[in-house]
Amino acid sequence: MKPTTKKTQDKYEIKEHQSIELLKELHILTRDGKMNQDSRRKLKQVYHLVQFIEPIIESLMSQQAKVKLVDFGSGKSYLGFILFDLVGKLQSKPLEIIGLELRKDLVEYCQALASKLEFNSMSFHLLSTEEAIQSDALPVEIDLVTALHACNTATDDAIRFALAKNVQHLVLVPCCQAEVASFLRKNKSIDGEDSYLAQIWRQPIHSREFGSHITNVLRTLQLEAHGYKVTVTELVGWEHSMKNELIVANRGLNSKQQLKARQDLNTLLNKLQLTELEERFS
Ligand SMILES: C[S@@+](CC[C@H](N)C(=O)[O-])C[C@H]1O[C@@H](n2cnc3c(N)ncnc32)[C@H](O)[C@@H]1O
Repeated sequence: MKPTTKKTQDKYEIKEHQSIELLKELHILTRDGKMNQDSRRKLKQVYHLVQFIEPIIESLMSQQAKVKLVDFGSGKSYLGFILFDLVGKLQSKPLEIIGLELRKDLVEYCQALASKLEFNSMSFHLLSTEEAIQSDALPVEIDLVTALHACNTATDDAIRFALAKNVQHLVLVPCCQAEVASFLRKNKSIDGEDSYLAQIWRQPIHSREFGSHITNVLRTLQLEAHGYKVTVTELVGWEHSMKNELIVANRGLNSKQQLKARQDLNTLLNKLQLTELEERFS
């Protein structure tokens, strides 16, 4: 096996202190230190996301003894591991990273990898959202919830968990969401003076795209209604991924702003005949 050289590190934008062993374990680097295109894309997204999360962690570290982050739908935990390796390892205070995942094999794989790398403040749990909200295995207080490409309604579950835990920050990169589009398709027409609105989703491709767009609009309003200041931007250039919307939410809206968001959210659900989804976005 060839050792990974300094040249390889520079070429793939691998930082000096970054664990080459980790990148190999995650199959981002091959055993002889090369990187494939898919891994490069994933790594680029994760690096970008880390850049958004790092200042939040540092700000929290300056105010408290420890920072507790839940990565929802952690999968193979590229984000959690790279975040710990790039940021957590360098902190003078502990960064606890908790991965929540519904696949037992991935929970076991990630837990074994964390032990192997001695990333002892990382843990992984097989818990449903309701179980996670109540579980004694998780800290009562969580500071930050992340979710990278949590599929379909899993991003909504991440929001539900974050709201139940009253976290200070959320950083979300949603995946496609089919639930809202399915309700739009069911209600193909609207009676009365707003009937023209249904033109927005009459064609199947439009109901899919508009459904996905309106889902993130509703998520934004939901978070604002709960007191978060929300910014929505793109994570990396669209050539890297179609699942590219980045939602960052930090506590800080006053009650008047929250009320306005709640009213707008309800009006929108009403106008689009999506009132069956009121609970989802409550
Ligand atoms: C597309 S993968 C993304 C994994 C990882 N975040 C990444 O970016 O590589 C989504 C993961 O979310 C998990 N998942 C879906 N719903 C979930 C839920 N309600 N709670 C926890 N995990 C969930 C799935 O099992 C899957 O591993």
